[in-house]
Amino acid sequence: MPDNEIILEIKNLSKVYDKEVLKIEQLSFRRGRIYGIIGPSGAGKSTFLRLVNLLEPPTTGDIYFKGEAMSMNGRAGTPVRREMTMVFQKPLLFKTSVSENVAYGLKARRFSKEEIKARVETLLEKVGLKELAGRYAGTLSGGEAQRVALARAVAFEPAFLLLDEPTANLDPSNVELIERLILDLNRDKGMTIIMVTHNIFQARRIAQEVIFLHEGRIVEMGDTEKIFSFPEDPRTRDFVEGRMIY
Ligand SMILES: Nc1ncnc2c1ncn2[C@@H]1O[C@H](COP(=O)(O)OP(=O)(O)OP(=O)(O)O)[C@@H](O)[C@H]1O
Ligand SMILES: [Mg+2]
Repeated sequence: MPDNEIILEIKNLSKVYDKEVLKIEQLSFRRGRIYGIIGPSGAGKSTFLRLVNLLEPPTTGDIYFKGEAMSMNGRAGTPVRREMTMVFQKPLLFKTSVSENVAYGLKARRFSKEEIKARVETLLEKVGLKELAGRYAGTLSGGEAQRVALARAVAFEPAFLLLDEPTANLDPSNVELIERLILDLNRDKGMTIIMVTHNIFQARRIAQEVIFLHEGRIVEMGDTEKIFSFPEDPRTRDFVEGRMIY
């Protein structure tokens, strides 16, 4: 399939809980790119990812994956479930060992034993957790659990990866490790990635395009350098220059 193909398209999407927390008229994502979603706490970033990942139904609107409208029920959600995976802001691990966690999706997809072993080892090395392979996942620190969750999510090499604050609990050396893994997955596997982050510096380092969400709406979006160097909206300027409280 051609590069630059629109892989995900959003039309008239909204989500109402007690009040409307998300309203996006139109938004499209191209294959093989890294998108950063930034915005203050409560802006609707996690809600957006949950809707895209079909964890919750939108109140209005449609999401198209490769041109097909998705729904939470029936076959319309199947392609996306097969090709998309999400790493949550607060990851939940299975109550088994670290390596069993990472192997889970590979076993479900019937990869061979050798392939599973090789992938689990490589990934644990990449996220800096080789020594913890046999450890019971329930005993991990927050940052270790977050790295296991990422390794588990990418083990089967999904085409589309949704990351919700993937480095929120990590120290600088682990942030660097994880950022490198994200960039490698994009470059080597062509993975399309949407990364939600509070961290404007991280968005600038990693994303090719940035979407600034505020109070459930897109204030501004575009090439990362443009958003950071020449923001048009005063709210974007305040946010990227660190003046907006979040
Ligand atoms: N299940 C729910 N029921 C009611 N309100 C909800 C629910 N989930 C989210 N909200 C509200 O929707 C708004 C957006 O929440 P969301 O978690 O998407 O924000 P966020 O941008 O991810 O924030 P943060 O940076 O703090 O993670 C918030 O005001 C939140 O309280
Ligand atoms: Mg969130």
